[in-house]
Amino acid sequence: MAFRNLLTDDRDGVRRITINRPDKLNALNRETIGELDLAFRQAKADDAVRVIVLAGSGEKAFVAGADITELAQLTPQQAQQFSRAGQQMMLGLERLGKPVIARIQGFALGGGMELAMSCHLRIASEKARFGQPEINLGVIPGFGGTQRLLRLAGRTAALELCLTGAQIDAARAQALGVVTRVVAADRLDAEVDALAAQLAASAPHALSGVIDTINVGGESGIDVGLEFETQAFALCCATADMREGTAAFLERRKAKFTGA
Ligand code: COA
Repeated sequence: MAFRNLLTDDRDGVRRITINRPDKLNALNRETIGELDLAFRQAKADDAVRVIVLAGSGEKAFVAGADITELAQLTPQQAQQFSRAGQQMMLGLERLGKPVIARIQGFALGGGMELAMSCHLRIASEKARFGQPEINLGVIPGFGGTQRLLRLAGRTAALELCLTGAQIDAARAQALGVVTRVVAADRLDAEVDALAAQLAASAPHALSGVIDTINVGGESGIDVGLEFETQAFALCCATADMREGTAAFLERRKAKFTGA
């Protein structure tokens, strides 16, 4: 199905999903949120897709937030629906079971920072800027930002960023644990592509085991997390990829993982 606000491209097991509203700095309107939700479901269901790269088109912004033109008109009931739609889409992304890499070249503000925080890996250009500026509009983050920033960066930073709306640079975002890696602007695509290729060549069941176990463990006590880890570990041992990975090590050759 063709999307109105997204571009998609498949190469060597990597699906690139690009939010394509550059004249609005890729702001998330309702339609784009719905399309992203569908795009993530499709990527999850397609066995040929091993890794997803999520990007924003143009030079300036990954995503500059929820669409303020739509936000300005919301009734409280519509605001609940809007918030839930954004939260569900981002939960779907977080629980997709395949690695999603955010490619962040510029502004990741409001819903853009929330979207980035839902991805499993975040590679940012040194020019990227982050922030939760909703306070300046008289609202709060509504797509999970209060909760994910709290979990990623802790209470002190979550309160500071959400209460002040301050923008931070990529170096501070990395220091806070919000960004995985910061790279020179002209190295961004090379770094993202290399990481995506590495993950696309990895064993898919092991990748999903890591993602699922860390998701579950992050939201439960250690006993639950450890038991989930045991089950996910055991499940990996039912795969042909596990036999291949261990045999390749013992035979001193490179493993070829097929997803079986
Ligand atoms: N929603 C809707 N439109 C947005 C938008 C958003 N979140 N962010 C930017 N745009 C639009 C602007 O209205 C402008 O459209 P126009 O050309 O039709 O007037 C276009 O994108 C370019 O943005 P502009 O503000 O002119 O660029 P800038 O370089 O001067 O500033 C930002 C860049 C990111 C600092 C600024 O756009 C901004 O503060 N955006 C809103 C960030 C925000 O509060 N996000 C949280 C929303 S809950």
